[in-house]
Amino acid sequence: MRIAVAGVGYVGLSLSVLLAQHNAVTAVDVVEEKVELINSRRSPIRDIEIEDYLAHRDLDLTATVDGASAYEDADLIVIATPTNYDPTKDFFDTSLVEEVIDLVLAVNPDTVMVIKSTVPVGYTQALSQRHPMAKILFSPEFLREGHALSDNLHPSRIIAGIPTGTDHTPELEQAAQAFTRLLAEGAQDTDIPTLLMASTEAEAVKLFANTYLALRVAYFNELDTYAAVRGLDASKIIQGVGYDPRIGSHYNNPSFGYGGYCLPKDTKQLLANYKDVPQNLIEAIVEANRTRKDFIADELLHRVQELKDAGNPHPTVGIYRLTMKSGSDNFRASSIQGVMKRIKAKGIPVIVFEPTLDDPDFYGSEVTHDLHHFKTTSDLILANRWDPELTDVTNKTYTRDLFKRD
Ligand SMILES: NC(=O)c1ccc[n+]([C@@H]2O[C@H](COP(=O)([O-])OP(=O)(O)OC[C@H]3O[C@@H](n4cnc5c(N)ncnc54)[C@H](O)[C@@H]3O)[C@@H](O)[C@H]2O)c1
Repeated sequence: MRIAVAGVGYVGLSLSVLLAQHNAVTAVDVVEEKVELINSRRSPIRDIEIEDYLAHRDLDLTATVDGASAYEDADLIVIATPTNYDPTKDFFDTSLVEEVIDLVLAVNPDTVMVIKSTVPVGYTQALSQRHPMAKILFSPEFLREGHALSDNLHPSRIIAGIPTGTDHTPELEQAAQAFTRLLAEGAQDTDIPTLLMASTEAEAVKLFANTYLALRVAYFNELDTYAAVRGLDASKIIQGVGYDPRIGSHYNNPSFGYGGYCLPKDTKQLLANYKDVPQNLIEAIVEANRTRKDFIADELLHRVQELKDAGNPHPTVGIYRLTMKSGSDNFRASSIQGVMKRIKAKGIPVIVFEPTLDDPDFYGSEVTHDLHHFKTTSDLILANRWDPELTDVTNKTYTRDLFKRD
């Protein structure tokens, strides 16, 4: 099949590589640099499997900035452009998905499009009603950044959602089956659980799955807050709780809050979708994350005050990495930034160690790549995730990474 993929970020690039093992794939992006890197078989994002597959595997993959030509020739178009939700304006920004759909409808209106971007519940159904000619499916994407291709080579499940009651519904049911087969063909596992459902249900799966993950993070973070306030060892409590097989010892490592590109926006999106539907929990998850960052900032301010009381009039706080997880190469909406904002609001000077950031300045604070300079300048270091390179400054490092992982 000739497949065009719109947007080569984490989602689009991993799918492009996966599908290019058995199909002719054209990956489209608006950023020329990314296109050039892919055409020279290098990955614009950090992901071991993507780097390996691009360098060493036989892939039928070309990248281009010319969306119109790519979509015109395609038998199938996968859309993986960014989406956003602005809770202050209660606005779902799906404009980049629609930009691609409008272009496809102009150059190749009969082709099936599959939205892989995360969208509000009911979006694909509404879009199909707005564009009765368009053949649009929704397929939730479950990858983790840094493991994007691996998660598609070993998918936990494959889901395709079909708008209901449209002229194209029967044809789209077949297209949905064909799409799930394409994803399974590229995977290394067999017997992957596969589900077809209404597009609105598939959109709900994505938001409810991410909101559950956020709930779990928020839960263990609140457990950790409780232990800290009561002077208890949180790691012992978490271990004791996790040995119950119904709970498990995964995804339970405290942090400064859930963050990254997806969990903050998807929880808020789901909450907005609850308008007119009774709920307490979804709102509490969003609030709990805010409370956790307030608590972490307060803990830090308390330590800063101790340094002042001990005779240091202007202690500097070092932010060790802006990234969310160890091994990550981006820091979109990372929780440490929320804590940093709170302590800067109190006038505390901050220095940032972030090797992946080339700017010398981040919101008015110095950014350094020199670890020695960072350690000597910082009176107190804040690390969402521990790294062995902090071992010599353990006594001035504040982290809640109790299990030193993920
Ligand atoms: N990152 C994740 O872990 C993850 C997981 C599941 C779902 N999602 C969802 O998938 C979507 C994409 O996420 P991502 O992390 O891959 O985003 P990303 O920001 O890493 O990549 C998106 C890419 O789309 C490109 N783009 C923007 N406008 C375009 C256009 N008109 N035509 C072609 N390309 C265009 C951008 O230049 C960028 O390279 C989002 O809706 C996100 O919520 C992300």
